[in-house]
Amino acid sequence: MGPQENEEKLMKDLETVLYTEEQILARIRNMGEQLTAEYRGKFPLLVGVLKGAVMFMSDLVKRMTIPLEIDFIAISSYGTSTRSSGVVRILKDLDRDVDGRHVLIVEDIVDTGLTLAYLRDVLVRRNAASVRIAALFDKPGRRQVPIEPDYCGFTVPNAFIVGYGLDYAERYRNLPDVGILKENVYRGSDTPRT
Ligand code: XMP
Ligand code: MG
Repeated sequence: MGPQENEEKLMKDLETVLYTEEQILARIRNMGEQLTAEYRGKFPLLVGVLKGAVMFMSDLVKRMTIPLEIDFIAISSYGTSTRSSGVVRILKDLDRDVDGRHVLIVEDIVDTGLTLAYLRDVLVRRNAASVRIAALFDKPGRRQVPIEPDYCGFTVPNAFIVGYGLDYAERYRNLPDVGILKENVYRGSDTPRT
């Protein structure tokens, strides 16, 4: 199967395309300009949440024209596939010390907010000078704890979305566009949440 065919096959599993790669990159360019202004002179540490935020981190930092550092953390939340318990485990910790640093969490999507609430607390307890959140997507309709991204790319409806880093069962991360996954793709299993 050629590259063209592979992309077409992935696209066929989408109910609708919500945002094209061009639209996503245009939005990220704006966010990068805003963050450049906000973090000038602060030498921020950008913390990407693996694996969903990899594409967003990559495109965002290229639009920030100030000195900064990047690091990654991998976390997993306990619970069933449909319900998160809010108990989070760190699978891969940061390499950098956050003590005294201006930290910007870079996340793919805020859903219930449980993961981010936990991560923010961890970073605050480690003595970060400031902790803010940049999320490419926000699904406010599913929130279980009061937490809002300080910087948000797009607000999305209560549907399971994939592409541009977001996966279903580790697939579709490489889709350049973002869309709603067809229900028949996961029919029989629970509604996916990660
Ligand atoms: P919480 O609920 O703690 O979790 O805010 C956020 C994490 O859940 C995943 N998630 C999704 N992944 N499409 C995805 O591919 C979605 O629509 C979706 N909603 C939530 C994601 O890993 C995020 O970091
Ligand atoms: Mg994630």
